[in-house]
Amino acid sequence: MQGNAQRVEHQLTDKGYVPVYTTRVIAQPWETYTADDHRTWATLFRRQREILPGRAAKEFIDNQERFGMSADAIPKFSDLNRVLSVATGWELIAVEGLLPELTFFEHLANRRFPVTWWIRKPEQLDYLSEPDLFHDLFGHVPLLLNPVFADYMQAYGCGGVKAAAIGPEALVNLTRLYWYTVEFGLINTPEGLRIYGAGIVSSKGESIYCLDSAAPNRLGFDLERVMCTRYRIDTYQKTYFVIDSYAQLMDATRPDFTPIYARLAAQPSHPAGNVLDSDQVYQRGSGEGWLNDGDV
Ligand code: PHE
Ligand code: CO
Repeated sequence: MQGNAQRVEHQLTDKGYVPVYTTRVIAQPWETYTADDHRTWATLFRRQREILPGRAAKEFIDNQERFGMSADAIPKFSDLNRVLSVATGWELIAVEGLLPELTFFEHLANRRFPVTWWIRKPEQLDYLSEPDLFHDLFGHVPLLLNPVFADYMQAYGCGGVKAAAIGPEALVNLTRLYWYTVEFGLINTPEGLRIYGAGIVSSKGESIYCLDSAAPNRLGFDLERVMCTRYRIDTYQKTYFVIDSYAQLMDATRPDFTPIYARLAAQPSHPAGNVLDSDQVYQRGSGEGWLNDGDV
């Protein structure tokens, strides 16, 4: 952790105890990045870009190119914002880390995407328990150039503000949707399944596992199915949900969720690894290596 990142408190959430940071929006302190920080970015950038062609959605890599992201140095948010603002009207803002839920939703609802300004330490290349600059920038930012996905992210933010007013169970349902799409989503293309989830593309191990392993389920996206499915925070996912297009995501999430939340509140949630009769199955996972407990 960088010395001046202000961790406000630890807060019990659906992801366990996580640090929550000050809600302050800051200027990206670009001059304070060390040679080690830029090296960490370069190592991770090269490592992912080596394996992602043919695995990540084509627009993901194309959009990184459009932004001019490269291994040379940690990007400046101001440079990325020049590209982003004319393309879809989104703006990257620098924050200290994970934000309280309502603050996060309000940013998205106003087309502001919070990016953690600090990058992980060299000894954390493969795993770290909270989002850092590499996850946020490399993983989330490219698809903000896609007009449909950009609208989905804003709609999600508006939906979050609304769900927060409805209650904690609604928020749990909505968080699962974010998890299984924005973080761990797969998309079906004429060339085969591709990754669009930021949690996957920022992880070398999961970028390979989610497509190549026989262990996980790969199931067709269904809104209510996703919203009542638990997930993993400490291991690779047991199940990935596959969309056909970003428009499908937009269309499925357009209806008012209020009656959906009410209906789901009366139903039990599904364990992360279950396959239901109603599922569209791309792959039924072998379940090899799965831990029995720990779904959240
Ligand atoms: N339509 C949802 C609602 O009424 C809002 C939403 C849109 C939620 C997109 C998630 C994603 O709550
Ligand atoms: Co993320």
